[in-house]
Amino acid sequence: MELHQLLQEAKEKIALVSTQAELGDVRAFYLGKKSPLQKYMKKMSSLTPEERKTLGAEINAIKGELEDLVNQKRQALLDMEIEARLQKETVDVTLPGHVFPVGTMHPLKQMIRKVEDIFIGMGYSIKEGPEIETDRFNFEMLNVPKGHPARDMQDTFYISENLLLRTQTSPVQVRTLLEAKGKPVKILCPGKVYRRDDDDATHSHQFMQFEGLVVGPDITMSDLKGTLSLFIKKLFGSAREIRFKPSYFPFTEPSVEVDVSCFKCGGKGCPMCKHTGWIEILGAGMVHPNVLKSANYDPEKMQGFAFGIGIERVTMLAQQIDDIRHFYLNDKRFLQQFERGNK
Ligand code: PHE
Repeated sequence: MELHQLLQEAKEKIALVSTQAELGDVRAFYLGKKSPLQKYMKKMSSLTPEERKTLGAEINAIKGELEDLVNQKRQALLDMEIEARLQKETVDVTLPGHVFPVGTMHPLKQMIRKVEDIFIGMGYSIKEGPEIETDRFNFEMLNVPKGHPARDMQDTFYISENLLLRTQTSPVQVRTLLEAKGKPVKILCPGKVYRRDDDDATHSHQFMQFEGLVVGPDITMSDLKGTLSLFIKKLFGSAREIRFKPSYFPFTEPSVEVDVSCFKCGGKGCPMCKHTGWIEILGAGMVHPNVLKSANYDPEKMQGFAFGIGIERVTMLAQQIDDIRHFYLNDKRFLQQFERGNK
């Protein structure tokens, strides 16, 4: 085969390859140790020096040209591979994105936020405390000594003889009074509480409360009534009225149950208010002198009021939820009914 034919053939082969591997084979064939060009090299010895020179130059030129062509082809194949990858990996920005499910704030949390806002607006601070309490803070300092019959109503889970799961958030009030060392306090204590109770549509062994406490000089029952009246109007609407009924709590004297005029029928009577026009909503009273004394306050100089609200209960009333257990089951069908944010 003539040299120029060989060059032509090699050029065509290089032009036809479509992968780096094929290109490697073609290169090895024409430029490797067993290349047809080698045959010409072998012929050299039988040539005159003049002919040798021309042939050598020609072979070198062909080798150089083929080497260049192989390099160009290698680059061209690389460019094609990159182009193909770019084509394959393009992102279609017009495709719909992933929708991340957004949760809703738990209805109890929404209620807590709302009630906290109302009381912060009246100058209260929010106080929290431990759920595992001492018998002393949960009962004794609240005028409920050991053996007091009121303990029956608030039996609880005992960790040891003197350590228990708190039955009310009142121990936070005791702690705050001890810290305040005789100074006035105005606090709202939200939190979980525990009682030995049957679990049914309206009872749970674990639930939540807000308790409020205001202690200062000249605090009277009319302050309590004004505060609760404002709170109820903000929570259930400005047309709501409240009424006090006598009651008993060991830590308050006098003690009252507070009813709110039915927000469904406006007081005319309906199934929601059991046709009485009133819905019982919370317990309250004037802080018992013994409670003040045990926290080193002089009841002659400082008085106070306290109130306790069941968070589940007001949420059930406000949102017309018929079973307390809905709050704890984490059923999305229930939770998604409550939009995000405050309601
Ligand atoms: N701690 C009481 C309860 O859980 C509620 C309450 C608080 C009543 C403050 C009166 C005053 O039942």
